[in-house]
Amino acid sequence: MKNRIVFSLLGFALAFSVSAQDLSDKQRAEIESRIKPVGEVCLEGDNTCGGPAVAAGGSSAPRSGEDVYNAACMACHSTGAAGAPKLGDAAGWADRIAKGNDALYESGINGVAGTGMMAKGGCMNCSDEETKAAVDYMVAGSQ
Ligand code: HEC
Repeated sequence: MKNRIVFSLLGFALAFSVSAQDLSDKQRAEIESRIKPVGEVCLEGDNTCGGPAVAAGGSSAPRSGEDVYNAACMACHSTGAAGAPKLGDAAGWADRIAKGNDALYESGINGVAGTGMMAKGGCMNCSDEETKAAVDYMVAGSQ
């Protein structure tokens, strides 16, 4: 009588530990699939992961200057990080704008040596055209 109770308890414990094992495998898989996308996110302004993550949209149509700005330039140009001229800061842009568009495109595409302004702001998947559109967007918003 006593033995039988012990046996059924033991059986219960075994059954429980087996199903708990199953559950944790499933949970592990679930957790892995939940975590995975996070590992692929690349934060704006993080230069260690091949340029900011920019929604490519699956098409080769160039993104607008505003889209490129928001994705690749805003990290510095909205805050003035590293001494970047801020979007909308007319005084900060006046001398730069005076150099002419070509000089600004050149800076946008190739960067400004010795400053935080990297080529294309670090946006590896921005075309020259898209970078110029982003420069136009910043210039238009800063006079
Ligand atoms: C990591 C920070 C950072 C990012 C991201 C960044 N910039 Fe800059 N940018 C700077 C800094 C700092 C300067 C000022 C450089 C200097 O001292 O002339 C600057 C200056 C500029 C200038 C003016 C250059 C000149 O000749 O006067 C342009 C144009 C420009 N950035 C375009 C862009 C564009 C377009 C993007 C996005 C595709 C971008 N930047 C992203 C930091 C950044």
